[in-house]
Amino acid sequence: MWEDTIDVAAVTEIRARSICYLGVGAIAKIGDIVKELKKREVGAVLVVTGKGSHIKTGAWDKIKAALDAEGVGFFLYDQVTPNPTADQVDAAVAGGRGKGAAAVIAVGGGSPIDAGKVAAILLAYPDKNARDVCRVSFAPEKAVPIVAVNLTHGTGTEMNRFAVVSIPENDFKPALAFECIYPLYSIDDPGLMTKLPEHQTVYVSVDAVNHVIEASTTILASPYSIDIAKDVVRLVAKYLPIAKKDPGDLRARYFLLYASLLAGIGFDNGLLHLTHGLEHPLSGLRPQLAHGSGLGIILPGIIREIYPVKGEVLAEVLAPIVPGLKGAAGEADVAAKGVREWLTGVGIPANLRAEGFVPEDVAKLIDLAFTTPTLDTLLGLSPVKATREAVKRIYETAM
Ligand SMILES: [Fe+2]
Repeated sequence: MWEDTIDVAAVTEIRARSICYLGVGAIAKIGDIVKELKKREVGAVLVVTGKGSHIKTGAWDKIKAALDAEGVGFFLYDQVTPNPTADQVDAAVAGGRGKGAAAVIAVGGGSPIDAGKVAAILLAYPDKNARDVCRVSFAPEKAVPIVAVNLTHGTGTEMNRFAVVSIPENDFKPALAFECIYPLYSIDDPGLMTKLPEHQTVYVSVDAVNHVIEASTTILASPYSIDIAKDVVRLVAKYLPIAKKDPGDLRARYFLLYASLLAGIGFDNGLLHLTHGLEHPLSGLRPQLAHGSGLGIILPGIIREIYPVKGEVLAEVLAPIVPGLKGAAGEADVAAKGVREWLTGVGIPANLRAEGFVPEDVAKLIDLAFTTPTLDTLLGLSPVKATREAVKRIYETAM
Protein backbone atom coordinates (compact mmCIF):
# COMPACT_ATOMS: atom_id res chain seq x y z
CA MET A 1 0.00 0.00 0.00
CA TRP A 2 1.37 3.42 -0.94
CA GLU A 3 0.77 4.72 2.57
CA ASP A 4 3.64 2.51 3.75
CA THR A 5 6.03 4.51 1.58
CA ILE A 6 5.22 7.84 3.24
CA ASP A 7 7.81 9.21 5.65
CA VAL A 8 5.57 10.43 8.45
CA ALA A 9 8.37 12.59 9.89
CA ALA A 10 8.73 14.55 6.63
CA VAL A 11 6.73 17.69 7.39
CA THR A 12 4.78 18.62 4.27
CA GLU A 13 2.76 21.70 3.41
CA ILE A 14 -0.92 21.07 2.69
CA ARG A 15 -2.50 24.03 0.92
CA ALA A 16 -6.21 24.67 0.86
CA ARG A 17 -7.63 28.05 1.94
CA SER A 18 -5.47 27.54 5.07
CA ILE A 19 -1.88 26.35 5.02
CA CYS A 20 -1.29 23.35 7.25
CA TYR A 21 2.00 21.78 8.26
CA LEU A 22 1.46 18.03 8.55
CA GLY A 23 3.95 15.56 9.94
CA VAL A 24 5.72 14.35 13.04
CA GLY A 25 7.69 17.33 14.35
CA ALA A 26 5.53 19.94 12.57
CA ILE A 27 5.22 21.85 15.86
CA ALA A 28 8.73 23.18 15.14
CA LYS A 29 7.10 25.31 12.41
CA ILE A 30 5.69 27.56 15.13
CA GLY A 31 8.99 29.46 15.10
CA ASP A 32 8.55 30.51 11.45
CA ILE A 33 4.88 31.24 12.03
CA VAL A 34 5.58 33.61 14.93
CA LYS A 35 8.27 35.32 12.80
CA GLU A 36 5.61 35.81 10.11
CA LEU A 37 3.21 37.32 12.67
CA LYS A 38 5.96 39.66 13.81
CA LYS A 39 6.52 40.71 10.18
CA ARG A 40 2.83 41.58 10.11
CA GLU A 41 3.46 43.86 13.09
CA VAL A 42 1.73 41.63 15.62
CA GLY A 43 3.18 42.67 18.97
CA ALA A 44 1.02 40.44 21.15
CA VAL A 45 -1.24 37.41 20.67
CA LEU A 46 -4.20 35.90 22.45
CA VAL A 47 -3.53 32.23 23.20
CA VAL A 48 -6.77 30.24 23.54
CA THR A 49 -6.53 26.75 24.94
CA GLY A 50 -8.05 24.14 27.26
CA LYS A 51 -7.08 23.20 30.77
CA GLY A 52 -4.19 20.82 30.27
CA SER A 53 -3.50 19.25 26.88
CA HIS A 54 -1.37 22.18 25.70
CA ILE A 55 0.96 21.43 28.64
CA LYS A 56 0.78 17.62 28.58
CA THR A 57 1.58 17.41 24.88
CA GLY A 58 4.52 19.77 25.19
CA ALA A 59 2.99 22.10 22.57
CA TRP A 60 2.90 25.12 24.90
CA ASP A 61 6.63 24.91 25.72
CA LYS A 62 7.42 25.20 22.01
CA ILE A 63 4.89 27.98 21.39
CA LYS A 64 6.00 30.03 24.38
CA ALA A 65 9.66 29.65 23.39
CA ALA A 66 8.80 30.90 19.88
CA LEU A 67 6.89 33.90 21.25
CA ASP A 68 9.67 34.75 23.69
CA ALA A 69 12.33 34.43 20.99
CA GLU A 70 10.56 37.06 18.88
CA GLY A 71 9.57 39.26 21.80
CA VAL A 72 5.86 38.78 21.05
CA GLY A 73 3.71 39.23 24.17
CA PHE A 74 0.69 37.10 24.95
CA PHE A 75 -2.40 36.70 27.08
CA LEU A 76 -3.03 33.03 27.88
CA TYR A 77 -6.67 31.97 28.29
CA ASP A 78 -6.65 28.30 29.35
CA GLN A 79 -10.24 27.71 30.47
CA VAL A 80 -11.91 26.43 27.30
CA THR A 81 -14.04 23.32 27.94
CA PRO A 82 -15.54 20.80 25.51
CA ASN A 83 -18.61 22.45 23.93
CA PRO A 84 -17.13 25.93 24.59
CA THR A 85 -19.45 28.78 25.56
CA ALA A 86 -19.87 32.39 24.55
CA ASP A 87 -18.83 33.38 28.09
CA GLN A 88 -15.49 31.61 27.71
CA VAL A 89 -14.88 33.44 24.45
CA ASP A 90 -15.77 36.79 26.03
CA ALA A 91 -13.37 36.13 28.92
CA ALA A 92 -10.56 35.22 26.52
CA VAL A 93 -11.23 38.29 24.38
CA ALA A 94 -11.27 40.60 27.41
CA GLY A 95 -7.75 39.41 28.27
CA GLY A 96 -6.62 39.66 24.66
CA ARG A 97 -7.97 43.19 24.26
CA GLY A 98 -6.22 44.21 27.48
CA LYS A 99 -2.93 42.97 26.07
CA GLY A 100 -3.44 44.56 22.65
CA ALA A 101 -3.50 41.13 20.97
CA ALA A 102 -3.50 41.35 17.16
CA ALA A 103 -3.58 37.60 16.41
CA VAL A 104 -4.89 34.40 17.98
CA ILE A 105 -2.97 31.20 18.57
CA ALA A 106 -5.50 28.47 19.39
CA VAL A 107 -4.09 25.28 20.88
CA GLY A 108 -6.16 22.14 21.34
CA GLY A 109 -8.92 20.14 19.74
CA GLY A 110 -11.98 21.60 18.10
CA SER A 111 -13.19 23.42 21.19
CA PRO A 112 -10.20 25.73 21.78
CA ILE A 113 -9.69 26.26 18.05
CA ASP A 114 -13.35 27.17 17.49
CA ALA A 115 -13.37 29.44 20.55
CA GLY A 116 -10.17 31.01 19.19
CA LYS A 117 -11.80 31.64 15.81
CA VAL A 118 -14.71 33.53 17.38
CA ALA A 119 -12.24 35.41 19.60
CA ALA A 120 -10.32 36.42 16.44
CA ILE A 121 -13.49 38.01 15.06
CA LEU A 122 -14.09 39.89 18.30
CA LEU A 123 -10.53 41.24 18.40
CA ALA A 124 -11.36 42.88 15.07
CA TYR A 125 -14.73 44.22 16.33
CA PRO A 126 -14.08 45.95 19.68
CA ASP A 127 -17.77 46.80 20.27
CA LYS A 128 -19.15 43.27 19.77
CA ASN A 129 -19.40 40.25 22.07
CA ALA A 130 -19.54 36.49 21.55
CA ARG A 131 -23.35 36.33 21.67
CA ASP A 132 -23.51 38.83 18.79
CA VAL A 133 -21.42 36.40 16.74
CA CYS A 134 -23.15 33.21 17.90
CA ARG A 135 -26.62 34.60 17.21
CA VAL A 136 -25.29 35.89 13.87
CA SER A 137 -26.72 39.30 14.73
CA PHE A 138 -24.15 40.84 12.38
CA ALA A 139 -22.09 39.49 9.48
CA PRO A 140 -18.40 39.46 10.45
CA GLU A 141 -16.16 40.30 7.52
CA LYS A 142 -12.83 40.45 9.29
CA ALA A 143 -10.84 38.72 12.00
CA VAL A 144 -7.28 38.97 13.25
CA PRO A 145 -4.93 36.21 11.95
CA ILE A 146 -5.60 32.77 13.41
CA VAL A 147 -2.96 30.11 14.01
CA ALA A 148 -4.36 26.68 14.90
CA VAL A 149 -2.14 24.21 16.74
CA ASN A 150 -4.31 21.12 16.52
CA LEU A 151 -4.17 18.45 19.23
CA THR A 152 -6.87 15.99 18.05
CA HIS A 153 -7.66 14.24 14.77
CA GLY A 154 -11.37 14.87 14.25
CA THR A 155 -12.83 18.29 13.72
CA GLY A 156 -10.83 19.47 10.72
CA THR A 157 -11.49 23.01 11.97
CA GLU A 158 -7.81 23.82 11.37
CA MET A 159 -8.60 23.78 7.63
CA ASN A 160 -11.98 25.46 7.29
CA ARG A 161 -14.29 28.40 8.01
CA PHE A 162 -16.43 26.76 10.69
CA ALA A 163 -16.68 27.32 14.43
CA VAL A 164 -19.03 25.98 17.07
CA VAL A 165 -19.60 27.96 20.26
CA SER A 166 -22.66 27.46 22.49
CA ILE A 167 -25.08 29.90 24.09
CA PRO A 168 -25.78 28.03 27.35
CA GLU A 169 -28.90 29.91 28.53
CA ASN A 170 -30.78 28.73 25.41
CA ASP A 171 -29.14 25.28 25.02
CA PHE A 172 -28.13 26.65 21.59
CA LYS A 173 -25.11 25.17 19.83
CA PRO A 174 -25.00 26.94 16.47
CA ALA A 175 -22.67 26.00 13.61
CA LEU A 176 -21.01 29.24 12.52
CA ALA A 177 -19.45 29.70 9.09
CA PHE A 178 -17.55 32.86 8.15
CA GLU A 179 -15.07 33.47 5.34
CA CYS A 180 -12.85 35.48 7.69
CA ILE A 181 -12.02 32.61 10.08
CA TYR A 182 -9.91 30.32 7.95
CA PRO A 183 -6.70 29.86 9.95
CA LEU A 184 -3.72 31.60 8.37
CA TYR A 185 -1.54 28.66 9.42
CA SER A 186 -2.27 25.32 11.08
CA ILE A 187 -0.05 22.70 12.62
CA ASP A 188 -1.05 19.03 12.45
CA ASP A 189 1.64 17.11 14.31
CA PRO A 190 0.78 13.46 15.03
CA GLY A 191 3.52 13.43 17.65
CA LEU A 192 1.26 15.63 19.82
CA MET A 193 -1.59 13.11 19.70
CA THR A 194 -0.15 9.90 21.07
CA LYS A 195 -1.54 10.64 24.56
CA LEU A 196 -5.11 11.06 23.34
CA PRO A 197 -7.18 8.59 25.44
CA GLU A 198 -8.88 5.71 23.65
CA HIS A 199 -12.44 7.03 23.95
CA GLN A 200 -11.42 10.43 22.56
CA THR A 201 -9.46 8.76 19.79
CA VAL A 202 -12.70 7.03 18.80
CA TYR A 203 -14.95 10.07 19.16
CA VAL A 204 -12.79 12.42 17.11
CA SER A 205 -12.29 9.82 14.36
CA VAL A 206 -16.06 9.23 14.19
CA ASP A 207 -16.51 13.00 13.91
CA ALA A 208 -14.30 13.00 10.79
CA VAL A 209 -16.26 10.10 9.31
CA ASN A 210 -19.51 12.00 9.86
CA HIS A 211 -18.13 15.13 8.24
CA VAL A 212 -17.56 13.28 5.00
CA ILE A 213 -20.67 11.10 5.01
CA GLU A 214 -22.64 14.35 5.20
CA ALA A 215 -20.42 16.39 2.86
CA SER A 216 -20.71 13.72 0.16
CA THR A 217 -24.52 13.58 0.35
CA THR A 218 -25.77 17.17 0.83
CA ILE A 219 -27.62 18.83 -1.99
CA LEU A 220 -24.35 20.74 -2.62
CA ALA A 221 -22.07 17.67 -2.74
CA SER A 222 -19.51 17.61 -5.57
CA PRO A 223 -17.09 15.07 -7.04
CA TYR A 224 -14.49 16.72 -4.78
CA SER A 225 -16.45 16.15 -1.56
CA ILE A 226 -17.33 12.59 -2.66
CA ASP A 227 -13.73 11.64 -3.51
CA ILE A 228 -12.53 13.07 -0.21
CA ALA A 229 -15.20 11.08 1.61
CA LYS A 230 -14.11 7.78 0.11
CA ASP A 231 -10.52 8.21 1.22
CA VAL A 232 -11.41 9.50 4.69
CA VAL A 233 -13.64 6.51 5.48
CA ARG A 234 -11.00 4.14 4.11
CA LEU A 235 -8.24 5.69 6.22
CA VAL A 236 -10.28 5.77 9.44
CA ALA A 237 -11.47 2.18 8.96
CA LYS A 238 -7.86 1.08 8.48
CA TYR A 239 -6.00 3.12 11.07
CA LEU A 240 -8.47 3.59 13.95
CA PRO A 241 -8.14 -0.03 15.16
CA ILE A 242 -4.34 0.34 15.02
CA ALA A 243 -4.35 3.58 17.05
CA LYS A 244 -6.70 2.01 19.59
CA LYS A 245 -4.38 -0.93 20.05
CA ASP A 246 -1.20 1.13 20.07
CA PRO A 247 -1.85 4.82 20.87
CA GLY A 248 1.79 5.62 20.15
CA ASP A 249 1.71 4.32 16.57
CA LEU A 250 2.75 7.45 14.68
CA ARG A 251 1.78 6.11 11.27
CA ALA A 252 -1.76 5.42 12.50
CA ARG A 253 -1.98 8.85 14.14
CA TYR A 254 -0.58 10.50 10.99
CA PHE A 255 -3.20 8.97 8.72
CA LEU A 256 -6.07 9.57 11.16
CA LEU A 257 -4.92 13.18 11.32
CA TYR A 258 -4.60 13.41 7.55
CA ALA A 259 -8.11 11.92 7.25
CA SER A 260 -9.47 14.51 9.65
CA LEU A 261 -7.73 17.38 7.86
CA LEU A 262 -9.07 16.11 4.54
CA ALA A 263 -12.55 15.77 6.01
CA GLY A 264 -12.30 19.39 7.18
CA ILE A 265 -11.71 20.42 3.57
CA GLY A 266 -14.45 18.03 2.45
CA PHE A 267 -17.17 19.68 4.50
CA ASP A 268 -15.83 23.14 3.77
CA ASN A 269 -16.91 22.23 0.24
CA GLY A 270 -19.89 19.90 0.52
CA LEU A 271 -21.10 21.31 3.86
CA LEU A 272 -23.10 19.25 6.36
CA HIS A 273 -26.68 18.21 6.93
CA LEU A 274 -28.67 15.97 9.27
CA THR A 275 -26.07 14.34 11.51
CA HIS A 276 -24.50 17.62 12.64
CA GLY A 277 -27.82 19.44 12.45
CA LEU A 278 -29.32 16.94 14.88
CA GLU A 279 -26.25 16.30 17.06
CA HIS A 280 -25.88 19.95 18.06
CA PRO A 281 -29.22 19.90 19.91
CA LEU A 282 -27.98 16.80 21.79
CA SER A 283 -24.76 18.36 23.07
CA GLY A 284 -26.49 21.74 23.35
CA LEU A 285 -28.91 20.15 25.81
CA ARG A 286 -26.27 18.00 27.54
CA PRO A 287 -22.87 19.67 27.15
CA GLN A 288 -21.15 16.68 28.79
CA LEU A 289 -21.96 14.61 25.68
CA ALA A 290 -18.95 14.18 23.39
CA HIS A 291 -19.78 15.46 19.90
CA GLY A 292 -18.43 12.31 18.21
CA SER A 293 -20.45 10.03 20.46
CA GLY A 294 -23.68 11.90 19.70
CA LEU A 295 -22.95 11.82 15.98
CA GLY A 296 -22.20 8.11 16.03
CA ILE A 297 -25.38 7.27 17.90
CA ILE A 298 -27.69 9.05 15.46
CA LEU A 299 -25.83 8.20 12.24
CA PRO A 300 -27.45 4.79 11.54
CA GLY A 301 -30.94 6.32 11.64
CA ILE A 302 -29.81 9.04 9.23
CA ILE A 303 -28.25 6.50 6.86
CA ARG A 304 -31.60 4.76 6.75
CA GLU A 305 -33.34 8.05 5.85
CA ILE A 306 -30.94 9.18 3.13
CA TYR A 307 -29.77 5.89 1.59
CA PRO A 308 -32.80 5.58 -0.75
CA VAL A 309 -31.83 8.85 -2.49
CA LYS A 310 -28.03 8.71 -2.05
CA GLY A 311 -27.39 4.97 -2.31
CA GLU A 312 -24.92 5.20 -5.19
CA VAL A 313 -22.68 7.62 -3.32
CA LEU A 314 -23.04 5.88 0.05
CA ALA A 315 -22.33 2.41 -1.35
CA GLU A 316 -18.87 3.66 -2.40
CA VAL A 317 -18.19 5.89 0.60
CA LEU A 318 -19.21 3.22 3.11
CA ALA A 319 -17.49 0.33 1.30
CA PRO A 320 -14.56 0.08 3.76
CA ILE A 321 -16.95 -0.35 6.71
CA VAL A 322 -19.99 -1.95 5.01
CA PRO A 323 -18.67 -3.95 2.06
CA GLY A 324 -20.93 -5.30 -0.68
CA LEU A 325 -23.47 -2.47 -1.00
CA LYS A 326 -24.62 -1.78 -4.58
CA GLY A 327 -26.52 1.45 -4.04
CA ALA A 328 -30.06 0.10 -4.45
CA ALA A 329 -32.72 1.91 -2.41
CA GLY A 330 -33.79 -1.37 -0.81
CA GLU A 331 -30.39 -1.67 0.93
CA ALA A 332 -31.16 1.16 3.37
CA ASP A 333 -31.69 -1.13 6.36
CA VAL A 334 -28.63 -3.24 5.57
CA ALA A 335 -26.48 -0.11 5.21
CA ALA A 336 -27.80 1.36 8.47
CA LYS A 337 -27.22 -1.92 10.31
CA GLY A 338 -23.69 -2.24 8.90
CA VAL A 339 -22.82 1.29 9.97
CA ARG A 340 -24.24 0.65 13.45
CA GLU A 341 -22.16 -2.52 13.81
CA TRP A 342 -18.99 -0.72 12.78
CA LEU A 343 -19.69 2.15 15.17
CA THR A 344 -20.46 -0.03 18.19
CA GLY A 345 -17.45 -2.17 17.25
CA VAL A 346 -15.11 0.80 17.56
CA GLY A 347 -16.68 1.87 20.86
CA ILE A 348 -19.63 4.21 20.19
CA PRO A 349 -22.53 3.68 22.66
CA ALA A 350 -25.52 1.85 21.20
CA ASN A 351 -28.15 4.48 22.00
CA LEU A 352 -28.91 7.86 23.57
CA ARG A 353 -30.07 6.28 26.82
CA ALA A 354 -26.50 5.14 27.38
CA GLU A 355 -25.57 8.86 27.30
CA GLY A 356 -28.22 9.83 29.85
CA PHE A 357 -31.05 10.92 27.54
CA VAL A 358 -34.66 9.89 28.20
CA PRO A 359 -37.56 9.61 25.72
CA GLU A 360 -39.09 12.79 27.20
CA ASP A 361 -36.10 14.73 25.77
CA VAL A 362 -37.20 14.11 22.18
CA ALA A 363 -39.71 16.99 22.04
CA LYS A 364 -37.10 19.48 23.31
CA LEU A 365 -34.49 18.11 20.88
CA ILE A 366 -36.85 18.56 17.94
CA ASP A 367 -37.54 22.14 19.06
CA LEU A 368 -33.82 22.89 19.33
CA ALA A 369 -33.18 21.42 15.88
CA PHE A 370 -35.60 23.92 14.38
CA THR A 371 -34.88 26.95 16.58
CA THR A 372 -31.08 26.96 17.15
CA PRO A 373 -29.57 29.72 14.97
CA THR A 374 -27.85 28.36 11.82
CA LEU A 375 -29.07 24.75 12.15
CA ASP A 376 -31.92 25.44 9.71
CA THR A 377 -29.23 25.94 7.06
CA LEU A 378 -27.80 22.47 7.72
CA LEU A 379 -31.22 20.82 7.75
CA GLY A 380 -31.98 22.59 4.46
CA LEU A 381 -28.96 20.86 2.86
CA SER A 382 -30.29 17.37 3.59
CA PRO A 383 -30.84 15.19 0.53
CA VAL A 384 -34.25 14.22 1.96
CA LYS A 385 -36.59 16.82 3.39
CA ALA A 386 -35.89 17.36 7.10
CA THR A 387 -39.49 17.37 8.24
CA ARG A 388 -40.45 17.30 11.94
CA GLU A 389 -41.59 13.70 11.39
CA ALA A 390 -38.22 12.67 9.90
CA VAL A 391 -36.32 14.39 12.70
CA LYS A 392 -38.54 12.73 15.33
CA ARG A 393 -37.99 9.34 13.69
CA ILE A 394 -34.20 9.83 13.82
CA TYR A 395 -34.15 10.82 17.50
CA GLU A 396 -36.54 8.01 18.45
CA THR A 397 -34.51 5.44 16.55
CA ALA A 398 -31.42 6.60 18.42
CA MET A 399 -33.15 6.51 21.81
FE1 LIG B 1 -18.13 17.67 13.78
